[in-house]
Amino acid sequence: MRQTLSCLLALAAHVHAHGYMVLPMSRTGLNAQAGKDTCPECQILEPVTAWPDLDAAPVGRSGPCGYNARMGVDYNQPGANWGKSPVATYKAGDVINVQWCVDNNGDHGGMFTYRLCPNTTLVQEFLNPSSLPTEPEKQALEDCFEANILPCTSVSGQPCAYNPDCKPGEKCYRNDWFTCNGFNDGTRCRGVDNAPINSCYTSIAGGYTVTKKVKIPDNFPESSHTLLSFKWNSFQTPQIYLSCADVAIRGSSSLPPSTTKSAQPTSTACASPVASMAVTFSVKAKTAFGETIKVVGSTSQLGGWDAAKAKTLSAAGYTDANPVWSGSVTMPAGAAFELKFLRVSGSGTVSWESDPNRQYTVPRGCSGAVTITGEWR
Ligand SMILES: *[C@@H]1O[C@H](CO)[C@@H](O)[C@H](O)[C@H]1NC(C)=O
Repeated sequence: MRQTLSCLLALAAHVHAHGYMVLPMSRTGLNAQAGKDTCPECQILEPVTAWPDLDAAPVGRSGPCGYNARMGVDYNQPGANWGKSPVATYKAGDVINVQWCVDNNGDHGGMFTYRLCPNTTLVQEFLNPSSLPTEPEKQALEDCFEANILPCTSVSGQPCAYNPDCKPGEKCYRNDWFTCNGFNDGTRCRGVDNAPINSCYTSIAGGYTVTKKVKIPDNFPESSHTLLSFKWNSFQTPQIYLSCADVAIRGSSSLPPSTTKSAQPTSTACASPVASMAVTFSVKAKTAFGETIKVVGSTSQLGGWDAAKAKTLSAAGYTDANPVWSGSVTMPAGAAFELKFLRVSGSGTVSWESDPNRQYTVPRGCSGAVTITGEWR
């Protein structure tokens, strides 16, 4: 009986669908948009050791860009709908939004990371439409990615937690990777954003966005075409999800960080993406009686940096234990903007948050809403 049940569970794990990178859009996602990959979230490296040693498994045929066995498509080689040109351009030193999409039926918990390999010799093999990288070439690039993760901890102010299913001393006990919430007692990966279902596209049961920030290293070499890699190690199943996106990196700018901007991604996970989205701001700020918190930013919806036109947030959810001010505005999908929170005294004196400006790009998705959280600084 026990054996039958575990067989069924194993089968379910193979049938139900999972996750892939959508911001910047992965090669897999581009082929899904073109209607040629009917299950972008089904690109799985399995069965492998995915937990607790996150880097124990060789990538094999999957390579760092993934092999979709269901479709028989190898994304390590540029194809008709992907891989020929960058979908986003970033600058060395930029803090950028990255996002993947987890399927409603395949949220296996675990941990994930984004990586950039500075060795152009290794990446080059994956940019040639007329040749498929060999397995040793796939492993060499994966080894480079493993050695060059973009750590959660390099983005100042970003909370970097340990996975609740990982014990101290285990190899997964690290907070340079990103973590999903607990598998057994938590809200798993979907709980990271708490976005509504279909906030991104998956083919089987609807997707939930999982959004984080990474920093392009200050000294990352300029490249007109390289690969950003995404890797998610499942906690529940012996599975790893790999995808990659074609990007360009420009040299670091002499401008201060508060005025740098990331290029907007040019693609989306949906055949018919929504034009705009509700963006909720939620900031923890202890306030004295009579003070209010507002949000001001570079877009018209946020007053175009004019404090007099800033959006006033509500203290309806404010408690001593959780002093949250929040409010929503509707913004165009894909809009990149900067913002700061303001503290306004009872007599109208405005205090601005400290530099740098917060940066955000509204995702392009099938539907939905996003929440930007922060703490007053
Ligand atoms: C890049 O990778 C190639 C191929 O493995 C290797 O020969 C070369 O030494 C590497 N370059 C650097 C700078 O690590």
